[in-house]
Amino acid sequence: MSKFSPIGVFDSGYGGLTVLRQIVKSMPTYDYIYLGDNARAPYGTRSFDTVYEYTLQSVKWLFQKGCPLIILACNTASAKALRTIQQKFLPTIGNGQRVLGVIRPTAEIIGNYTKTNQVGILGTRGTVESMSYPIEVKKIFPKLKVFQHACPLWVSLVENNEHSSPGADYFIKKDVEALLADSPEIDTILLACTHYPLLEEKIRRYISDNVKLVSQGEIIASSLENYLFRHPEIEKKCSKNGQLQFYTTDSTLDFDKHSTIFFGKPVVSIHADLT
Ligand code: DGL
Repeated sequence: MSKFSPIGVFDSGYGGLTVLRQIVKSMPTYDYIYLGDNARAPYGTRSFDTVYEYTLQSVKWLFQKGCPLIILACNTASAKALRTIQQKFLPTIGNGQRVLGVIRPTAEIIGNYTKTNQVGILGTRGTVESMSYPIEVKKIFPKLKVFQHACPLWVSLVENNEHSSPGADYFIKKDVEALLADSPEIDTILLACTHYPLLEEKIRRYISDNVKLVSQGEIIASSLENYLFRHPEIEKKCSKNGQLQFYTTDSTLDFDKHSTIFFGKPVVSIHADLT
């Protein structure tokens, strides 16, 4: 049997499955291992130190599983933990393993969607408060105006399977209107949380037809493809048997029950003990 050295995809819970889904669609030949830290989700309201500690544990666990490359498919973890992992942790292990996030690749492209140069960002409180998007976007599109709004209840709506319920409309309307109140010229809204694509249909009810709604799955998939092309030394370490493994730190029964709406097809998970 050939070596299993999968690309690791990490999220605080289920949301990263919306990203993995697009990655697998674009690059089905690679092996992937998904880790959802459901037992400790949501991350969006947690401190920098806590998100760093949890994300680092998860990264170490994925490295132990043989991943040469890990994608933090979680905006909150990318905002609060990625830089420190890249600058402080990776140099200490020194064997060329890489960890990438979702903020930089999204920032690199978001300016191409807008005609008014005004972009709205919807994310968790952690992502918004970190200011990661305005900082990264400004480096690439200095003229772009970035407006942010935190939606603290949206992840819970999705995690509790209430994303299609009439009650969800109240919070979605309130948050979308709060963002748009900052500027009537926002013509592009980024869903900067991996859970939010499930709310897309409802969000569209509260924006006009000329406002583009951008989800990250396809952006991250195409940026990963490009990264592997530019880094053949990493690409050749990634095994290619088309295998997928799913791990959760919480109940596998719950994970398997809820994953389908995120991944688009049934998932069978294994319990992961990170300690
Ligand atoms: N998946 C996370 C993100 O993209 C949000 C979920 C959480 O708060 O844990 O920000």
